[in-house]
Amino acid sequence: MTRQITIFDTTLRDGEQAPGFSMSEAGKLSVARALQALNVDVIEAGFAAASPGDFKAVERIGQEIEGPAICSLARTTPGDIDAAARALKDAPHKRLHIFLGTSPLHREFKLNMTPDEVLTRIKDMVELARTHFDDVEFSAEDAIRTERGFLVEALSIAAEAGAKTLNVPDTVGYSTPDEIYQLFKHLTEKVSKANEVTFSAHCHDDLGMAVANSLAAVRGGARQIECTVNGIGERAGNCALEDAVMAIRTRRDVFNLTTNVDSRQIMAASRALSKATNTHPPRNKAIVGANAFAHESGIHQHGVLKNRETYEIMKPEDVGLSSNQIVLGKHSGKHALAARAKELGWSLDGERLQTAFDAFKVLADEIGLVDSGQLSALLERLESGAQG
Ligand code: KIV
Ligand code: ZN
Repeated sequence: MTRQITIFDTTLRDGEQAPGFSMSEAGKLSVARALQALNVDVIEAGFAAASPGDFKAVERIGQEIEGPAICSLARTTPGDIDAAARALKDAPHKRLHIFLGTSPLHREFKLNMTPDEVLTRIKDMVELARTHFDDVEFSAEDAIRTERGFLVEALSIAAEAGAKTLNVPDTVGYSTPDEIYQLFKHLTEKVSKANEVTFSAHCHDDLGMAVANSLAAVRGGARQIECTVNGIGERAGNCALEDAVMAIRTRRDVFNLTTNVDSRQIMAASRALSKATNTHPPRNKAIVGANAFAHESGIHQHGVLKNRETYEIMKPEDVGLSSNQIVLGKHSGKHALAARAKELGWSLDGERLQTAFDAFKVLADEIGLVDSGQLSALLERLESGAQG
């Protein structure tokens, strides 16, 4: 049976926390609109207690965005919970996300709390959160480096106190796919009320395994993935939404999963984020990078021009691009040159094609990529030379 996965987007919270990705209130709102069009299930709009600006952004997103649940992060303190409740008072569909570190490192060096104090705080604050919110998510920060027995206790207490989603963050991107699969299997068997709650994976990308770990967590029993557009987030980022969604879609044969995301809105969301943060994803970023559906080398171009499946596993249209891109550069071949020339109104073959190809290679060596305007100018120059 195909299983439905909840997509919890944290671009506007964990994503925005990373250096270089701060957004204005208007920028956050425009990204929230793109996330609404993408049809994610939950938008984590920010951290209401963090600053007056973030409070306002969470409030406006709660008032203006319909469809997805709108969520605010909060520490396990009455002040944070109250700020989130005030910011989201008008949101028709809202969630509170509260977190507390559970690993020995976090307990000792960050919180200065004993294990019992951590458990009591979780119980008290989830109960308090439930007096304001129906939908409460609890995160055991640094869960991956928490002793298994203690993690089961902490999550069980959160579930008994009324949390509906139990998030298991790999806060520092330390896990491997096998390890996180085993962990989720264990948690979904041992945590109290496991059948009544949703287990969630929140993976960071410090070792480049955030997407693989999220999908492995789902195999172990997670039913929610937390992710960000373009994979932005603390340090190396979070699980990239577009990667997870397109992996699920493209390899349905392996994962047998589905999401509510409209993948054709992926490029629009990526561009809205780039505009709001003034930062573009790297050219080679999976799905949304400028090279993700571009071909420069002659061998690949020849294949793709005959049948795009030779070098493409996804349709560009499925992520919101109008087509793939045949890029002309020094690695390109005659087929691609002739095809582009034809689009520009030139019919080249035989000796004319060879002459044009030789001149094109010299130009490409000089300037790198050759665009349509530069190719037209070159062909016109050659034509007038031949006539003169
Ligand atoms: O990475 C993390 O642990 C977090 C929590 C606040 C969920 O972002
Ligand atoms: Zn995080």
